[in-house]
Amino acid sequence: MRKLFFSLALLAVLPLRLWAWGVEGHRAVGRIAEHHLTEKARRQVATLLGTQTLTLVSTQPDEMLSLPEYKPTAPWHYINTPLGLAHDQYVAAIKAQPEANAYNTLLTKIKEMKNPALTQAQRAEALIFVVHIVGDVHQPLHTGRAEDRGGNDIKLTYRGKETNLHSLWDSGLLDYQGLTYTELAAEYNDVPTPLIKTWQAAAPADWLFESYTLATKLYAEAEQNSSPDFRYYPAHAEIVKQRIQQAGIRLAGVLNEAFK
Ligand code: ADE
Ligand code: ZN
Ligand code: ZN
Repeated sequence: MRKLFFSLALLAVLPLRLWAWGVEGHRAVGRIAEHHLTEKARRQVATLLGTQTLTLVSTQPDEMLSLPEYKPTAPWHYINTPLGLAHDQYVAAIKAQPEANAYNTLLTKIKEMKNPALTQAQRAEALIFVVHIVGDVHQPLHTGRAEDRGGNDIKLTYRGKETNLHSLWDSGLLDYQGLTYTELAAEYNDVPTPLIKTWQAAAPADWLFESYTLATKLYAEAEQNSSPDFRYYPAHAEIVKQRIQQAGIRLAGVLNEAFK
């Protein structure tokens, strides 16, 4: 009984880390986006968010999951498909899913955030979900398989500690890197203009297919090696950097387009 009590108490104080890029990752995405907003978008975002900022609100949908009324929003953070689909098959598969997922929710929230018929509070909440979901769908394991819950059920030992593939990519790698979100955003902020244009021209379904392609590689590697060591981070640093950069740049693109 004491053991049970102890476990429950421990659960209560553990940070909620199951759902997404960790706090630093989401905030870095928000900060990079802030650096690439047009003046008009910046003003509209400020009007909707009031005293809050993109950086600050970027993690809120994860925190909302602890409120009973937001429990049904859990599937908005990811999308599961089988592996092995080619681009067009993948896009058709995600478009055909009837249940709420990160893809169809993102499209809905983009529409809601611009809809003048909604209240400011409704539009602000839609904006907050857009900020968060753009980040989440750039985390490769948020587009993984259903049967292992996007890698949550794939146990790994990373540098001697037990974890899982999903958690490693949500936060384990960024924690290992040890930078704050301001440092991350500064380090990742310089993206050449032609690349910004290319990234922003891609459609959300293509962002997801990129994540899905990366997830396929990460699943295969995890099958080969279930106890990655200190060499795992440097071998994947470029992917982590590019996914955070792309999320930030594309978030700015979505907001610039919505509020032009
Ligand atoms: N987080 C919780 N369940 C998940 C799933 N099935 N896929 C991706 N991320 C998840
Ligand atoms: Zn999330
Ligand atoms: Zn996650």
